[in-house]
Amino acid sequence: MKYARMIMEAEAPDMAGPDTFLYNLAESSVRDRTLGELGIEFGDLALPYGDHYGNPDLRALIAEQSGTDVGADDVLVTAGAAGALFVISSSLLEPGDHMVVGFPNYATNYETPIAIGANVEEHVQTFDGNFSIDVDKLASQVTAETRFISLTCPHNPTGVMFSRRELDQLIHIAEQNDCWLVVDETYREMAYGEPLPVAADLSDRAISVCSMSKTWGVPGIRVGWLITRDPDLMETFISAKEQIGITGSVLDETVALQTLQQRKTLLPLIREEIAQGLTIVSDWVQNEPMLEWVRPDGGVTCCVRIPGASDDQMRHFYEVGWTRPDTTRKGLRCISSALKRCFAD
Ligand SMILES: Cc1ncc(COP(=O)(O)O)c(C=O)c1O
Repeated sequence: MKYARMIMEAEAPDMAGPDTFLYNLAESSVRDRTLGELGIEFGDLALPYGDHYGNPDLRALIAEQSGTDVGADDVLVTAGAAGALFVISSSLLEPGDHMVVGFPNYATNYETPIAIGANVEEHVQTFDGNFSIDVDKLASQVTAETRFISLTCPHNPTGVMFSRRELDQLIHIAEQNDCWLVVDETYREMAYGEPLPVAADLSDRAISVCSMSKTWGVPGIRVGWLITRDPDLMETFISAKEQIGITGSVLDETVALQTLQQRKTLLPLIREEIAQGLTIVSDWVQNEPMLEWVRPDGGVTCCVRIPGASDDQMRHFYEVGWTRPDTTRKGLRCISSALKRCFAD
């Protein structure tokens, strides 16, 4: 029997169990929040199927926080950003269709297109190129046959961002080629400086994907969203969402709404937590002579490199993340000690 090829996250800490890792540095969200900490009140919440597009108050709030031209009707709430990416690929692609995707990337950005049988062309982002997008190269990869370009910013796993100018150029490429630009903005609000505008606010050729999981530390509620200002496209997307799960969870969407309503108080604290983690990792890299890195522009993941190491030597060292200062310090000390054992002459 032939199955669609999709890769399981076999090493996900959530699947391996919390006691498997002494220090988990591979998380991509800030510290997990609890209902109590967020002060979430359910009251006598009714539990019907929800609005198929997502809780209207939640969509209105997301729209308000996403720029001037985005309205509540342009927002589709999904089961995480992963759900949004699945909706987009399954709506826009048929077997053989061409798309261009930044690589490396969060797997759903290319795994779903591959499973559909699309012609998936990688736009490779390299350590030596500071993991940046090569806009000219990308322009040469896009043709009249291309259905969409899929890029992640801030990038997973490197945290690198493209600039506002580059975002405008990317939108221009999509508009010129009559294709879509999908920007996975899951880490958007974790930018260390000013976040980029929501791409869908700038053009109806851009589709934005975002999530409650990473910035807000609530990946357990499975709430994300996509934004498109093209009503026909939205109709296709809602149809796909209905095939997957009819609607979202009213409980999850209530938590998302009440969390986002606290944005003014929560976001500065979250950004402070992220800055603290960045300082710890940055100091560690500066003082760790066996490593070099591309400094991230946002998010809580980055890529380090051990110059001269063989593939075999590298196999234990492939991702560093940070969320809790204590865990981070101890975990990084463990990496330093393993580096000495493996690589010091
Ligand atoms: C870039 C990116 N997009 C999407 C997702 C999916 O996030 P979620 O489905 O939890 O919103 C992730 C999770 O790691 C991610 O890193």
